[in-house]
Amino acid sequence: MADKVTIKLGYNRAAARREEISLNASEQKLFDGFTFVLGIFLGALCAAAAAVTAGALDSRSRLNTDDEIAMEAIADRLAPVGRIALLGDAELAVAAAPVVAPTRVDTVLSGPQVFNEACYLCHAPPGVPGAPVVGDVAAWEPRAAQGLQLLQEHAINGYQGVAGFMPAKGGRVDLSDDEVRSAVEYMLEQLP
Ligand code: HEC
Repeated sequence: MADKVTIKLGYNRAAARREEISLNASEQKLFDGFTFVLGIFLGALCAAAAAVTAGALDSRSRLNTDDEIAMEAIADRLAPVGRIALLGDAELAVAAAPVVAPTRVDTVLSGPQVFNEACYLCHAPPGVPGAPVVGDVAAWEPRAAQGLQLLQEHAINGYQGVAGFMPAKGGRVDLSDDEVRSAVEYMLEQLP
């Protein structure tokens, strides 16, 4: 066929757009050659792309496990965001264990501390009626004359005098005898 390209024109526009292509022998050869070269080129392109991809994947999979910081960061990223803890027998036993009441810490209060806590209310000015106010010489002189020991006994066991009633340990039965004794000493020391 001599005609290479036949464009049919006519009223049918759809048919007119169709192109009929036919090649002669030399053109066919050229086309075959071109197709062959194109095939090789595309093949090489694919091979190159595959090589690049493989290289990229390979470099990603090669981890430096000696890099502690990087490994920690990875472990961090891979760590689960949360865990579900189911109570086992051990945990239930711990939860059911009775709470041990804290034991009282034994401390010894000093004379001034006992005075502030247990005696101040009645013996500091103005004081309760009848209670000798600390530092009041007139109120304390006749009492001090009885001797320290008797005053301490009265403070520990309580004392009903003519002026009023001194409750045992000032009502603080949790105080030790020695603590009350040192409070009495402190009160007498306040006399000028
Ligand atoms: C609720 C008030 C009150 C408290 C608290 C109190 N006292 Fe008295 N105390 C009195 C009264 C009232 C008297 C006087 C009793 C009397 O002579 O008739 C007195 C008297 C005393 C006397 C003299 C006893 C005597 O033989 O003359 C001493 C010592 C004494 N108190 C020590 C203490 C000490 C130490 C404390 C604190 C641990 C204390 N008091 C807490 C009211 C109190």
